Amino acid sequence: MDCFAMSGDAHFSVNTRLTRLLGETYRSSEAALKELVDNAWDADARNVWIILPLPMTSEAIVVRDDGSGMTSLEMQNEYLNIASDKRARTGERTPSMKRRVKGRKGIGKFAGLSLANRMDVTAVARGRRCSLTIDKIALTENENDLESVPLPFIEEEAASGEIGTTIVLSDLDNRLNFPTADRFREVLVHEYGREESFKVFVNDVQLSVEDVPGVSKQVEEVLGESGAVRLHFTIADGKKAPESPGIVLKVAGKVVGRPMLFGLDDDEEIPLKLSKRVYGEVELEGNDHFVTADWGGVIENSKAFQEIQAYVRSIVKQELQETHARDMSLQLARLKRQIDLRLQQLPEHRRRYAEEALSRILRRFYGESEDRISTIAEVALDAIEHDAYWAVLERINTTSRGDVGSFAEALEQFGLVELSAMAAQAKRRLEFLDFLDELIQNDATLEQNVHKALETNLWVFGRQFATMASNATLKSIIASYGIRNSQAIVRRSAQISCCSRILATAT
Ligand SMILES: Nc1ncnc2c1ncn2[C@@H]1O[C@H](COP(=O)(O)OP(=O)(O)O)[C@@H](O)[C@H]1O
Ligand SMILES: [Mg+2]
Repeated sequence: MDCFAMSGDAHFSVNTRLTRLLGETYRSSEAALKELVDNAWDADARNVWIILPLPMTSEAIVVRDDGSGMTSLEMQNEYLNIASDKRARTGERTPSMKRRVKGRKGIGKFAGLSLANRMDVTAVARGRRCSLTIDKIALTENENDLESVPLPFIEEEAASGEIGTTIVLSDLDNRLNFPTADRFREVLVHEYGREESFKVFVNDVQLSVEDVPGVSKQVEEVLGESGAVRLHFTIADGKKAPESPGIVLKVAGKVVGRPMLFGLDDDEEIPLKLSKRVYGEVELEGNDHFVTADWGGVIENSKAFQEIQAYVRSIVKQELQETHARDMSLQLARLKRQIDLRLQQLPEHRRRYAEEALSRILRRFYGESEDRISTIAEVALDAIEHDAYWAVLERINTTSRGDVGSFAEALEQFGLVELSAMAAQAKRRLEFLDFLDELIQNDATLEQNVHKALETNLWVFGRQFATMASNATLKSIIASYGIRNSQAIVRRSAQISCCSRILATAT
């Protein structure tokens, strides 16, 4: 019955949906290797151990798990069944741990071959061990007829207690993109760093909060209601916000519900985008009577939880505010360097205002790309240099700060007018410059014609001479506000009103 009752050769069977098989691209070697960890997850493993050799050695990469393994039938019908949809086969959840299945396309196993010329798969199930060797060269030589490529296959008795699956990648061929342990841990930590039932070890060290790039902090305290508390978190670097941010609560080693932000998400002083950079865990030993019976959440108004929440929130908040201030002063410094020349040309009283306006812009647009912020800053400087806007700005400036609501409103209104007016003006100026260019290029044009055209357009010279010299800025302003369609303005206005809310609480 069993088609692998004897050892010999196994073969691929290829589903018609087979596409891009070996050509599947991964962003990095580490991202490719993650496919094998995902497979261990799907196999209900509790542990997966990955060994990455040092670069330039001839040792193999080994990925070993203690999951369900595979019988010889499963190896043939599932493992070697390329491009068969795991979830269509076995459902959305794994059989014993009820995990959400990660497998999709039935090609993850080939990720290993993007790094190695040879892959040895050993899987144990029901007391039998099956081993299979896949040779990349043989596959690529028979790309159009994978089914005909013989894959050396051995089935034998397993050692007692032997379980799971082991993948050995050898004859590694991509030295340039050799996976490093640090980078691999970084790739894995977002998804698996706080999984209690799935421990990942890279070179024998388990993933931890520290693997998230950023500033880490660890504190311990004994609280009145809840006893000893250990808080360990990282504020992730701006560019790489964690995929599932928040802090998990562990009571007596067991995770309660999903990661939480402990009230930071409702804190007006912390932009939501900033709080989404927190990644950590808080552990307590004894007291678990505020945990719901299903261990899926907490009784929020219990004294003990309130106490933990206040503690976690205050410590993380302080760290967030420091990070925030650091980020902003860095950005401000960069921005300043970029626009210093323009600032210097402003009269003293306006310069002071401009500096203030710039730091306000940074606060309002926290989390936006630096490109965008610098474009906004340029527009704001245009506004400050432009008299008509200056009057509006001054009015805003003298609006009572106490009346936060109308101050924010004034800013919002101004923002709308300013953005549309400035961008429209920028666009018209660009058009004018095009016409001017046309005029100048035309052989029939005389010098006096050019003079005539410029007579009423002195903006072309003066400070705006700089504008003319950097058409790129004008172009980018227009592109970034997409002034051609009013929807973009509506979108911007939504953003601005949200930002002015943040600003309102900051002043
Ligand atoms: N480590 C493993 N343990 C048990 N079974 C595995 C393992 N790796 C792969 N398999 C089996 O091989 C199949 C194909 O894996 P893969 O090529 O990654 O595609 P997918 O995960 O999309 O199904 C999986 O669905 C699973 O049945
Ligand atoms: Mg997979």
